[in-house]
Amino acid sequence: MKIKKIQPLGAEITDVDLSYDLSESDRQLIKEAFLDNLVLIFKDQNLKPKNLFLAASLWGPPQKHPVFQGLDEHPEIIKIENYGEQYHTNAHWHSDVTFEEEPPDATILYAIDVPSEGGNTLFSNQYLAYEFLETSLKKKLNNQKAINTNRSVVLLAGADPALEKTVKHPVFRTHPETGKRALFVTQAFVERIEGLSDNESQEILTKLYAQASDKKFRYEHKWHNGDMVVWDNRCVQHFAVHDHGDKTRTLHRITVSGSKPY
Ligand SMILES: [Fe+2]
Repeated sequence: MKIKKIQPLGAEITDVDLSYDLSESDRQLIKEAFLDNLVLIFKDQNLKPKNLFLAASLWGPPQKHPVFQGLDEHPEIIKIENYGEQYHTNAHWHSDVTFEEEPPDATILYAIDVPSEGGNTLFSNQYLAYEFLETSLKKKLNNQKAINTNRSVVLLAGADPALEKTVKHPVFRTHPETGKRALFVTQAFVERIEGLSDNESQEILTKLYAQASDKKFRYEHKWHNGDMVVWDNRCVQHFAVHDHGDKTRTLHRITVSGSKPY
């Protein structure tokens, strides 16, 4: 197994076949590389849903999406297909499923049929977004919470509006394994910062979103069929660029369970 680091986040991993059982030392290496690099890109995989399910289990117990329907044989796996001009909530900076009390620790995408051009995914390092945030904002928002909502997802899925809900999460999250702090507000799911006026909340969120997606903190992934990418939802935001028109883009997506952010 070879690990090649990418700056400012990410590592490409080659010479490993995730459809086979991994040795304990490889598992350990992968877990360490995940915490160090935040996004891992496994090249040249050939993963049927059951293999993807097992590979994902390295990061925790796979879980079903609260709104979107999964595959019949593996309900934790969602088939992502996007094309044309339809609205898609993934074309906003976000961390996955932050409208739940316990958002997933990690998300895994596996590329089945991706366009030769376009449909890239951007990733942004939220440890750096926090670290380089202006000190006055760090102080002001130190123990503040943001109100996250699932409204955009309920709308997109055409689900029952009665499923709409909000949850509060800290603006700055502490990673439970590394102890580092990360910016944890996302343009897709946050509606306001608790305890601030509408105007102030909006003004600050605009600054935080710009910080979260700053080009200095980003890696842009160009997909190839057979790529399996896993990222740490606790300290990474992502954005699916929708610039491939009617070309097919098919991936499988699976998340693993997480814990309550603090
Ligand atoms: Fe996402």
